[in-house]
Amino acid sequence: MRRAALLLMPIAACDFYPEGAKDSAATTTEADCSPEVVIPTGLIKGEPPPVTPHAEVYGAAPAPFHVHMSWPSRDTSRNAAFVWRTDVDTTASLIEWGPAATFPEGATRTEGASFLFGGAALGEGPYRVHEARLCGLLSPDTDYSYRVGGEGGWSSTYTFHTPPAPGTPWSFRVAMSGDSRGTYATWSTVLSAMQSHAPDLYLFSGDMVELGANQREWDAWFDASGDVFATTPFMAAHGNHEFLAQHYFAQFAFPNNEEWYSFEVGDTLFLSLNDTVRDQSEADDAQTAFIRDTLAESPLGRRVAMHHQPLYSTCTTHGSNEELRELWAPVLEAGGVSLVLAGHNHIYERSVPIREGQERPPGEGTVYVVSGGAGAPLYPNSEAEWFGAVAQSIEHYIIADFSPNGVELVVRDLSGNIIDSFSLPR
Ligand SMILES: [Fe+2]
Repeated sequence: MRRAALLLMPIAACDFYPEGAKDSAATTTEADCSPEVVIPTGLIKGEPPPVTPHAEVYGAAPAPFHVHMSWPSRDTSRNAAFVWRTDVDTTASLIEWGPAATFPEGATRTEGASFLFGGAALGEGPYRVHEARLCGLLSPDTDYSYRVGGEGGWSSTYTFHTPPAPGTPWSFRVAMSGDSRGTYATWSTVLSAMQSHAPDLYLFSGDMVELGANQREWDAWFDASGDVFATTPFMAAHGNHEFLAQHYFAQFAFPNNEEWYSFEVGDTLFLSLNDTVRDQSEADDAQTAFIRDTLAESPLGRRVAMHHQPLYSTCTTHGSNEELRELWAPVLEAGGVSLVLAGHNHIYERSVPIREGQERPPGEGTVYVVSGGAGAPLYPNSEAEWFGAVAQSIEHYIIADFSPNGVELVVRDLSGNIIDSFSLPR
């Protein structure tokens, strides 16, 4: 029985079970984005740290590093969150931002906040993390420039582009990968390759690091990521190796409870789900209800979901999570999700279109993709299964072009060779 008992399981154990949702927020409103910096409680000694508002205080090393951005709300066109690190003594948490065409002339300064995490309770650190949130302040389909920090030390200036208002048809590019844990030189290579395609968004299906409670690994991951996510949003699913550690919640700013959430990019609804749970007794139905309610309430016709442990996988290392399949596949499929991205098995694979446990013609079923090849040790073995269309044990990444006509996906290895391509009809 794959029941959670997360606290008792060794870090290498991978069989966790889905938890329930606590929040099924469903409408796109400015209220979905709060300018307040709130850090969800982590599982491992994860009491939320007290937040320090911006103050003009600079330590010995106030220069921001590990600057990255994400979307903290369902509406991606008007809201964005920015996270960075400094030395522990710097409590200046400003973002200076404005239209790219005129920046820095007439730029606006918005105060963020910072907090310390780690320290004696975690046996490492402490570390100072800053976060600033622009809620309802941005205009859709606009180039913005910004820098973070304060007069005692600013970051470089970065530029990003906001998507159009939710529901607007938009042609955009998504880079997808998963499982970078352990080998950050490979992650750097994968990311550089993805960056060369100039995506508008990075999706990651979990297991960024080997041990989510080890900041040295997070530092290696962010070092390998460079400035890439300072200009292009990064949205992740929580993997079992993140382990619900405070480090994960401290260093990312995702919507809702940061474990399961949705966001809208142009005319596409994205769901990110958490299949590594902290308390099975809460579970099963509520996150399933979140999926069902979010899909039922969204006016957007194209839907993509992302989580870590695959519902369908031919890879024999972990195989398919059949309990999770039983819970989530019916609601994902009935809700019109055309693509489900997972990881966990360190291969690339794609299913046939599936609905209600049967193969369907293209466009009439959900395609389940496993992308677990961004640095973690590859898993060599797959078995023939009725649902398997393509499987290859190889480091890789996916570039998906969304347009009003459909989605074109191309999968490449790290030499640039195309190892798979397929399309999802509108
Ligand atoms: Fe995993």
